Amino acid sequence: MPRKILVTSALPYANAALHLGHIMEAVQTDIWVRFQRMRGHDCIYCCAEDAHGTPIMIRAQQEGISPETLIARTAEQHRRDYAGFLIGFDQFHSTHSPENVRFTHEIYATLRERGYIARRAVRQAYDQKAGMFLPDRYVRGTCPRCKSPDQYGDSCEVCGSTYTPADLIDPISTVTQTTPVWRESDHLFFNLGAFETMLREYVAGGSLQPAVRAKLAEWFEAGLQDWDISRDAPYFGIEIADAPGKFFYVWFDAPIGYIASFEAWRAAHAASFDDYWKSESASELYHFIGKDISYFHTLFWPAVLHGADLRRPSGVFAHGFLTINGQKMSKSRGTFITAQRYLERLSPEPLRYYYAAKLGSGIEDIDFSLDDFVARTNSDLVGKLVNIASRCAGFIQRGGGRLAAALPEPGLYREFAAAGEHIAALYEAREYPTAMREIMELADRANRYIDQHKPWSLVRDAARADDVRAIATQGLNLFRVLMSYLAPVLPHMATAAGKFLGCGFDEWSAVGVALLDRPIARYQPLATRLDPEAVAALIEPPPAGATGAATGAAMSADTATPGSAAVAGAATIGIDDFARLDLRVARVTRAELVEAPTSCCA
Ligand code: 2FM
Ligand code: ZN
Repeated sequence: MPRKILVTSALPYANAALHLGHIMEAVQTDIWVRFQRMRGHDCIYCCAEDAHGTPIMIRAQQEGISPETLIARTAEQHRRDYAGFLIGFDQFHSTHSPENVRFTHEIYATLRERGYIARRAVRQAYDQKAGMFLPDRYVRGTCPRCKSPDQYGDSCEVCGSTYTPADLIDPISTVTQTTPVWRESDHLFFNLGAFETMLREYVAGGSLQPAVRAKLAEWFEAGLQDWDISRDAPYFGIEIADAPGKFFYVWFDAPIGYIASFEAWRAAHAASFDDYWKSESASELYHFIGKDISYFHTLFWPAVLHGADLRRPSGVFAHGFLTINGQKMSKSRGTFITAQRYLERLSPEPLRYYYAAKLGSGIEDIDFSLDDFVARTNSDLVGKLVNIASRCAGFIQRGGGRLAAALPEPGLYREFAAAGEHIAALYEAREYPTAMREIMELADRANRYIDQHKPWSLVRDAARADDVRAIATQGLNLFRVLMSYLAPVLPHMATAAGKFLGCGFDEWSAVGVALLDRPIARYQPLATRLDPEAVAALIEPPPAGATGAATGAAMSADTATPGSAAVAGAATIGIDDFARLDLRVARVTRAELVEAPTSCCA
């Protein structure tokens, strides 16, 4: 039975460029969505700009533009970058949208009517020059514990202690560099504790990852605190109807953005709102997020939804952080790689594959090692996968461009096709690295099959033409199965392979029937080797005048070909690779003009 599934990725803040960490999450989600669709399920993928909050307001002020202009500009860049990585949202919306304003007001009104909202005074740092209350992160000062200077208002990066801005020694507002004063103001609180029993049951339901469940146990142990959901003007957000001058805290309306984005999609597709947001059995709802925002998604969000009579998520899938070459992304080290910087140098699919090969269902951090990235792409995608197609294509072409009528080894084909159910279970469980490993093991077997049957040594014997065609037909069919398993990860390559083989890759079970006795198109290269220099150039070289170590990287950046990873890199290959080559020498004895067929654009 087709399932109805709604999937989201975390909403990116509308004041900063996407980096490779955002892309990792979007790729993880997109693979899952594409996989579900191939399995025949009705899977909708929604996302949006997270458009509200103090940082966006301040950034717009600094640039001398309105927040609306800032979020519109950022949204355009985000859309471009997501599209560059082939992220196939059904809807990419904004929390600064009429739908989100409506749902936020409605949900708040319901929570208030049911008695889940309380009002009480809060003492907070206030910047008199800027005329605004300061979020903790906008106050800096000396750590009260270890006395390290220039620490944030909520925690010390040196000794790790947490405190309030009022505890800081010599606090300073980072907005105006003046000393803040302390003022009281009424805030609105959501009574999270009222949902403890429901939340404990929800967590025990087993849909969350073990590591997240362990964290939740700690949070329950520490006691669920009321959640402050309001902020005073000036604030860029949604004004609270019964509290003029107060706005919803960005984290209150951000997840509601999932509903708003879905609603924008629903309105254009005449789908049922209730099926997706009122019933926990009519559909499934999954949020892909970074582990740092688990608290919002596994406590506040299910509680808010439940309190407003809406369904809770079927699952929240948290992932770890991305490190680059074993270290935290850092602007000063040049490893804060934006999506745009990557796309200017390389094509998206090698990175999609690399993420799939590394990012499983757990919350451990994932390392993007540049050398490993080059090695894996060149070995797996080019050396194993595409190699099968490129080795076999020529034999079919030479034999008239038609696949044989039967497979010489149908048992082998059946084994490949039968692996589909296990690989599907791995995708479903987000165990992509194991899936990629199993697919590559099959690719090794397909290559071994071709090595054993050596069509290149039979091709000179005209009497063996049928054998050659049969071997190549077998090889191409095995390739098709593997391409089908990889289609969620490599959608462009699957489209190109589909044109070559004359088949689609939209249906997981289609490989149950082999492609036989039918024409195929001329083979065009499906992937090319990654150039290590182009990959090295992802790391931004230090500014001119910095140390000599930078020179190599700077040169790489200059020589990189934008948008292409296509240049052959390695100077030598091993004897095994050499043995696979089909080298030919020919002399052109005559050339003449021929009339081009009208359908041909060459
Ligand atoms: O942490 C972040 O980047 C937030 N903008 C994620 C919001 S996800 C959802 F709750 F809206
Ligand atoms: Zn400290």
